[in-house]
Amino acid sequence: MSALLVRDLAQVVSPAGGRAPLRGAALRELRVVENGYVLCEGGRISRVGGMSGLGRLNGDVRELDGRGRAALPGLVDCHTHACFAGDRVGEFELRAGGAGYEELHAAGGGILSTVRATRAAGEDGLAAALRRHRAWMRACGTTTWEAKSGYGLDRDTELAQLRAVRDAGGAPTWLGAHAVPPEFEDADSYLDFALGEVLPEAVRIAEAADVFLERGAFDALQARRYLEACREAGLALRLHADQFTEAGGIGLAIELGARSVDHLEATGPGGVGLLAASDVAAVLLPVAALFLGRSMPPARALVDAGAIVALATDFNPGSAYCESLPVAMSLACTQMGMAPAEALAACTVNAAHVLGRADRVGRVEPGYAADLVLLDVPDWRYLAYHLGGEHVAVVIEGGDVAWER
Ligand code: NIG
Ligand code: FE
Repeated sequence: MSALLVRDLAQVVSPAGGRAPLRGAALRELRVVENGYVLCEGGRISRVGGMSGLGRLNGDVRELDGRGRAALPGLVDCHTHACFAGDRVGEFELRAGGAGYEELHAAGGGILSTVRATRAAGEDGLAAALRRHRAWMRACGTTTWEAKSGYGLDRDTELAQLRAVRDAGGAPTWLGAHAVPPEFEDADSYLDFALGEVLPEAVRIAEAADVFLERGAFDALQARRYLEACREAGLALRLHADQFTEAGGIGLAIELGARSVDHLEATGPGGVGLLAASDVAAVLLPVAALFLGRSMPPARALVDAGAIVALATDFNPGSAYCESLPVAMSLACTQMGMAPAEALAACTVNAAHVLGRADRVGRVEPGYAADLVLLDVPDWRYLAYHLGGEHVAVVIEGGDVAWER
């Protein structure tokens, strides 16, 4: 494998604030090298520095011109539902006319309508849909990503989702407790099935388990039962919680030692304080808040209080039809009071922490995976500044150009 030298870059940018996960002021610390280079060898970054210190390189080295460009770590999307079939464009129109997201769900639409489409797609159809979505994510600069099941809710489709994610290079999360499918009478009898019949197979593929703890989905007791069984089976734990109501998700996440609690649009000061004093990451999904017209999660309060804050898209067909971490970063800065540097660390280093990969991805530093995003502008902050702008020019994965505009 030949080496790749990205040279004459206007900026090389990397989060710098010590060991992951980053909290408080450390979230804002960046290392910016002007007129710099990045050398990639064997799929990893081997050297980073200013052009004046580059010297002569021996051996077979491909070169990429970085003039006028800023390089930053490949982005890490730690919360997506990218493995789905079909769409919900009809519901989108209904919501635009005033229908509520929870109301559509209660009427058998919402998540359950994507369950019908996903079950009907077949394994090949599902894999093809995921490849398409994954390509969209890459074109926005995402090089490491998680995707959840939760649109099968039967054994075969849940496992097909997890395999599709794994085979496409993502981190699979078993969202076996997303909704109660219509063939079950209630949440408890569905959980009997999911934990008895699906978990033993899911645990061979998934890295983590997730639950939707919310009115109309699973309550705190049911979430506890699901998560305890998943933890026992060896999975890391995640929760969708406080999206519409505070229902004890944060306390449960802390008690069970979960990796993260995600959403938090409804979280008040008590929840902020609990999270700040814990090792559970707060994964904020501002696109979902925007898309559903809800208030934004309390990002500024969480960062200032010292919580571990990460940022993700929540890409899914119902509540966040958006695969762009740069858009999430823009919203973080314009709607949630985060600094651009905080937003960047939240969807690189801290998101990598949520996925258990902080030693490998999320920084432009020797030893890290050679996953880079090159922007067609000389200032990396355009990524958040230009709302909906398309400045990702080149995406490098494992030292190879994976995508070019
Ligand atoms: O994170 N809230 C629950 N799950 C997803 C939405 C899934 C859907 O609407 O299809 C979310 O917002
Ligand atoms: Fe989600």
